[in-house]
Amino acid sequence: MTDSQESRAEPTDEPPADRQRGRTVHGEPANAGHRVLAPDDAEVEAYLEQALHAPPPARGEEAPEAPDAVVILDFGSQFAQLIARRIRELNVYSELLPHDTPWAEIERRRPKAIILSGSPSSVYDDDAPKADPALWSGRVPVLGICYGLQLMAHELGGEVVPSARREYGPTAIQIATDHGLFAGLEREQPAWMSHGDAIARPPEGFEPTAQTDATPFAGLHDPARSLYGIQFHPEVAHTPRGRDILRNFVVEIAGARQTWTPASFVDTTVAEVRERVGEGHVICALSGGVDSAVAATLVHRAIGDQLTCIYVDHGLMRKRESELLRTTFAEHLGMKLLMVDARDRFLSRLAGVEDPEEKRRIIGDEFIRVFEEEAGRLGQIDFLVQGTLYPDVIESKTAETKAAAKIKTHHNVGGLPADLRFSLIEPLRYLFKDEVRRVGAELGLPEAMVLRQPFPGPGLAIRIIGEVTAERLGTLREADWIVIDEIKSAGLYRSLWQSFAILTPVRSVGVMGDGRTYANVVAVRAVTSDDGMTADWARLPYEVLARISSRIVNEVPGVNRVVYDISSKPPATIEWE
Ligand code: XMP
Repeated sequence: MTDSQESRAEPTDEPPADRQRGRTVHGEPANAGHRVLAPDDAEVEAYLEQALHAPPPARGEEAPEAPDAVVILDFGSQFAQLIARRIRELNVYSELLPHDTPWAEIERRRPKAIILSGSPSSVYDDDAPKADPALWSGRVPVLGICYGLQLMAHELGGEVVPSARREYGPTAIQIATDHGLFAGLEREQPAWMSHGDAIARPPEGFEPTAQTDATPFAGLHDPARSLYGIQFHPEVAHTPRGRDILRNFVVEIAGARQTWTPASFVDTTVAEVRERVGEGHVICALSGGVDSAVAATLVHRAIGDQLTCIYVDHGLMRKRESELLRTTFAEHLGMKLLMVDARDRFLSRLAGVEDPEEKRRIIGDEFIRVFEEEAGRLGQIDFLVQGTLYPDVIESKTAETKAAAKIKTHHNVGGLPADLRFSLIEPLRYLFKDEVRRVGAELGLPEAMVLRQPFPGPGLAIRIIGEVTAERLGTLREADWIVIDEIKSAGLYRSLWQSFAILTPVRSVGVMGDGRTYANVVAVRAVTSDDGMTADWARLPYEVLARISSRIVNEVPGVNRVVYDISSKPPATIEWE
């Protein structure tokens, strides 16, 4: 018996032994009943993770149009991803790799430049993260940031010491040169510092390029060997000219071409997918979320009718969402789309169920069953499209982010049976969320899809507290529609991480006309957040709240009271269940 079977709480729902579920990307047993922290398409991703053991798609380094790349070695800095994003904002492709990636691996990517991130470590720590010494050969320009600079200095014979004055926060730097990294910058600049160690003596051949009151070596270079370093963080907003410094390095010094745009990404990816799939057959589960929508559209552009999309309508979507999906994919884009009406199946399995985790488990399980049935009918399938994003890839790869990956123990459900074997196509594997949105816009997907707020896989079921019935779904759907409508009319939709209605199990007394009512209480939730891990309740203008409230009680039968949720996360969660 596998761990995944042992850990499942409900023995009665155990699948037969020949249909064992797999493990999630983070190595947890699938269907373990965890709360899902990853927003948006996570749920569907999780259902389909059985194909995890398939090799990642080839990136087609051989493709003639491959963009120039910058490799960022991650030494454990909280800002490592930010560096990657800043480089991509220059329209140069960047990839984050673990600090100890062997030189051969780095070279295989043919980087135009390499950037070394910061680190919470000191170069003198026993387990200080190191890099392959071939880095210092001068073959590819290298920029060390903070710890990256200290490591460079230490490895090349300089001296790094615990600094007498720890520098943290905004600091004035004086620049000593008009060239190289600092070309076009004023001589005095604000910059963000965060370091305990400092360079006491640079290695042979290096010259100082910048200084602060605390250190004469806030910047160093050895242009003959194409080695550059800065003690401050150019990637953070508190270093106002940081982008120019990164641009000087990547574009001017390393000569990377700024050709990586949504349009060029689409062209390259379409060519790669076409080559990989050949005459094969591909399926994709659409969830209504932006990731699966963009992934499917890209693959469709590459291989047309060799792709079949499956949309399992579990009846837990918001008003008009299934309709939007059908119009967009089947009508506008002409995709082969199987819309599976499984609403009754889900409702009957959810009947009488009040426990939130039980709801999630049932929905996940039923989703897999329906998906399997449909996929089984299609005959030979060679590939499965998944909307995996870059942060998931990084988290399961880089040593330093393992802790973060553990916090996000996502995927409450997962895995198709072992006998359904496909190779994975993950066209968004190298993109951040906002890049996915831009690619979606480039592909002509409707704004309502591309800019959609995250929506949980179990849908409205976890926003109905208590039993999910067709009637309660109807009530919540109408109330939710009004919330979104008013938030959009007020121009607030994009500034909020999520905004929605919850149908509470509470009924309260009210008056309407001459009569007394005893009806449902609807709660409204609107939050701001960067990543869904923490969140604050949105200070919505009173007028917007007033309109939402009055429209809900007037337009939604069975609701006579509206309350606004003013809890932050933590201690509350975003969803109520
Ligand atoms: P919480 O409620 O945990 O939500 O603060 C954080 C983010 O995750 C989403 N969420 C889910 N997404 N399946 C999903 O795909 C789920 O079971 C699930 N539960 C919560 C939630 O909408 C928010 O964006």
